[in-house]
Amino acid sequence: MATITALTGRRVWDSRGRPTVEAEVVLDTGARGRAIAPAGASRGLREAVDLRDGGPHLGGRDVGRALAALREVIAPALTGLDARDQQAVDAAIRALDPSRMKERLGGNATTAVSLAVLHAGAAAKGVPLWRHVADLAGTVPLLPLPEIQIFGGGAHAGRRVDIQDFMVMVPGATSFDEVMEITHDIYFAAGDIMARRGRLAGVADEGGWWPEFSSNEEALETLVEAITLASEKPGERVVISLDVAASEFGQAGRYRLALEDRALDTGGMIDLLGRWLDAWPIAAIEDPLGEDDRAGMVEFTRRFGDKVQVIGDDYLVTDAALVRAAVQDGACNAVLVKVNQAGTVTEALDAAAAARGAGWAAVVSARSGESEDVSISHIATGLGAGLLKVGSFTRSERMAKWNECLRIADSADAPPFAGARGLRFRGVSRSDGGS
Ligand code: PGA
Ligand code: ZN
Repeated sequence: MATITALTGRRVWDSRGRPTVEAEVVLDTGARGRAIAPAGASRGLREAVDLRDGGPHLGGRDVGRALAALREVIAPALTGLDARDQQAVDAAIRALDPSRMKERLGGNATTAVSLAVLHAGAAAKGVPLWRHVADLAGTVPLLPLPEIQIFGGGAHAGRRVDIQDFMVMVPGATSFDEVMEITHDIYFAAGDIMARRGRLAGVADEGGWWPEFSSNEEALETLVEAITLASEKPGERVVISLDVAASEFGQAGRYRLALEDRALDTGGMIDLLGRWLDAWPIAAIEDPLGEDDRAGMVEFTRRFGDKVQVIGDDYLVTDAALVRAAVQDGACNAVLVKVNQAGTVTEALDAAAAARGAGWAAVVSARSGESEDVSISHIATGLGAGLLKVGSFTRSERMAKWNECLRIADSADAPPFAGARGLRFRGVSRSDGGS
């Protein structure tokens, strides 16, 4: 058997120094699983919410209530269940808190528990976590193509620039290891350029260089320079991706670009991004319009969805029903998958399945508040998702995920590397890796 005999929680600390929840599961066989909940800063309005204590202590962010829910409500209900049956475990969690946003138990408690059970289930089967995920999802494992942040902006850098992530992808690489080498050169070339201009000012929340720029375009220009300085031709082996995270600066069809002190309507925002797509080799773009701007997302996807991957993060919040609605609408052509937006592994796998059913790609993603937990490296691989987004190329909560992918690549029966196949849109596999 693989019966859950004990479930405990403890308070640990995330990469921003904030309290978060760790869950630990023990099975009758002695097998164990452990996981830590991450935390977002630029959260979608409809995603699962973390339960925090409020009040003056620890800035109101303590997790005593979430730990109490784990200990007093979740643990008794899960004891006796088979950890290999993730669906049944997650159904039990959802029965305790049927709210979409996990307001009763806290998404931080449910995420940590659900992921800990996933680990225990894999341990009970004696298989790597990525293999267990593939079994549960019925997918073909594939080592993901990384999306790696070079400059961090938006809510992760005190809103120094409007756009949240300026990233590179290396679809032209032949292995995960080669992606790491090329990204190393680009990341440090970008740092050298910033230092030469007297603009080096540390790093943002996810480890990308602090964006000391006077316009969003200057950040893109500098990114292209860094790629070139690293002896790569932008648009060949290396392409750019952006997380606009437009909900952070746009509501009700009005987008306020603080850095440039101007406001755009939906059409203006789409035109601006269209000019960027013409000027730079951008292959993927996340949340180009706000989470409340359905018409904008549909129009953006209609105009550019055949040449760029349009990823919904805040717009879809890892929710299968929202993915299905967006497929119907023709909004987005890929989904960002964050387990803690859904609150359980099963709901996150369901969102990925809804995307897969429509020929969409999935991007498995970390949060801006992370830890040493490497579950997402396995989830991305097991799902054969195509892309993995973790943040930048420094700070161990980021590097831990990349390093775990290198271990998976080295393991027996390692799945193949996605490479350019990671960049799919409209169900078409992109084979040229170019712009
Ligand atoms: P968050 O940002 O973790 O702060 O929400 C990540 C993202 O928007 O993709
Ligand atoms: Zn995002």
